[in-house]
Formats: sequence, C-alpha cells, structure tokens
Amino acid sequence: MARILVTRAIPGPALAQLAQAGHAVTILPGELPPDRDTLLAAVAEADGLLCMLTERVDAELLAAAPKLRAVSNYAVGTDNIDLGAVAARGIPVGNTPDVLTDATADLALALLLAVARRLPEAERAVREGTWTAWRASGWLGLELRGARLAIVGAGRIGRATGERAAAFGMVVENVGRRDNLHAALARADAVSLHVPLTDATQHLMDARAFAAMRPGAILVNTARGGIVDQAALAAALHSGQLGGAGLDVMTPEPLPTDDPLLAAPNLLVVPHIGSATHRAREAMTRLAVKNLLAALAGEQMPHQVGA
Ligand code: DGY
Repeated sequence: MARILVTRAIPGPALAQLAQAGHAVTILPGELPPDRDTLLAAVAEADGLLCMLTERVDAELLAAAPKLRAVSNYAVGTDNIDLGAVAARGIPVGNTPDVLTDATADLALALLLAVARRLPEAERAVREGTWTAWRASGWLGLELRGARLAIVGAGRIGRATGERAAAFGMVVENVGRRDNLHAALARADAVSLHVPLTDATQHLMDARAFAAMRPGAILVNTARGGIVDQAALAAALHSGQLGGAGLDVMTPEPLPTDDPLLAAPNLLVVPHIGSATHRAREAMTRLAVKNLLAALAGEQMPHQVGA
C-alpha cells in the first residue's frame, strides 16, 4: 500500500482506481489549487503525487516529501516540474500526451477563426449597442482559404492544428527548431504556437518577432503564456502591427483583470481551456492514474517523461 496525494479531484471514474488498487488516497478538497503551505504539509507522507499544472514541483516540494517516489502530472506540459531536481532524486514523472491533442487543436482553430473574423470586437458591439447599422466596411476580417498559417512547433498538437487549418483551405507551414523563425513569421498571415515552455522558448515571441510578422497578422497561443512577451504583444496589437490575438494561456494565470494586455484591440483571451472537453479530461485522468499505478508498482510509466 502506498500513500497517494491528489492535489484535487479530477473528472471521470478512473480516479477511484487508485483506492481500488489498495492505496491510501488523499484528495485535497475544493476545485482550486491548494496554497503552497497546504501542499507542502499534505505531501509530507506521500509516496505518489498526482498534481496539476498549477503545482510547482521543485526542490522545496521534494524536500517536504522525503518518501516521494512517483509524480504524475495531469497535463502534457511539464514546465511546472523541475525535471532536473526530480531526476536527481530518481523519481519518475508521468504526463498525459495524445488524449488532449484534438481538444487543444480544436481550440486553436476556434481562436484563429474568432480573431480572423474579429468576433471579440463584433460581439462587444452588439452587447454595448455600438452596432448602429449593417455596414459594408464593418468588422472586415481575414478569410482562411489561401491564407498562410505558420505552426511554430509541429508536434502532436501543432500538426493536428495544421490539419484543421488545411481543411479550411489554409496553406500550412510547419516551423521547427532548425528553421528560420523570423523568416517564417514574415510569410504568415497567422501564427499558432505549439512549442513547450523551456529556457529556449521563453519569450520566443518578443518585440523582434512581432516586428518580423506581416502587418495585420494574427497570433494564436494555446501552448504556454511564457512563450510570449506580453508587453510586446500588447504594443504590437495597439500599433496595428498585429491584427489580433487569441490566447488560451498567459502570464500569470489567472491574468489580473486590470492587466494592460486586456486593453489591447481584437484580443480574445480564454482561461486555459485547451484540454477542457469531457473526453479529453476523463482520458487525462485515466492516463495520470495509469502512470502513477505503474510507477508505484515499480514499473515504467506508460507515459514517462524522458523515457
Ligand atoms: C497541458 O496538458 O499541458 C495543458 O496545458 C492543460 O491540459
């Protein structure tokens, strides 16, 4: 029997398998992330941790968890985990790839369509009563057929986003690590980000990158907020260098309602819901549970980071 800490309840029936396997399971109450002190106290006796992307798993947490031997992250991204510190303790880390690919790619397309057709501004006009008449030149946007989409980071989600964009008639260009990013940005009518957040991708989209983009182009980010320099993004939107942006991720999360970014034009922001479908989140639970059970049984996780 192992002691497992789950940092809060997650969707679907699979979570119950942890207790059914004979483990002692503590699920922290509530829907919100635990505060740090609560987390550090709760993890003290844990052999296994099932955590969310909101929990920082770092040297401090590891020091508070002397018995910890498995970390299962309820996310495909692992930037909340200090992989070096965890590896130094010999603790395997699991993640939840594949099962959220379609959900996240769907959202990337939804953001792209919404911003291309200026839905944030158009919807506001209806609600605020500034829509006074049908206008031949009102809210003109970008038509997707024939427009060029740069997929920055053509992994699973990037490729799935590209497939969807191609179905709309877009010309898709995959931009990898070895490609000239700024040259690709200069060719694109829209750019969708799908790289993990690492030291190399932190603020990959900075003022220089925005200056390289085609005037009026669109940015979509469903990856991680840290990839974008938000001050530079706000400036590019205000100046008209960018025609719009759709963001599922930002820094910090949640973004304070008085953050200057929110004053930028044709900006659609949603609260990190890329994987938020019933199917994806329940499948993520199944994978996270499988990963943890395998590691606690001394086996390799089905989705072990770096394995
Ligand atoms: C992930 O899995 O990394 C997403 O950002 C949340 O599901």
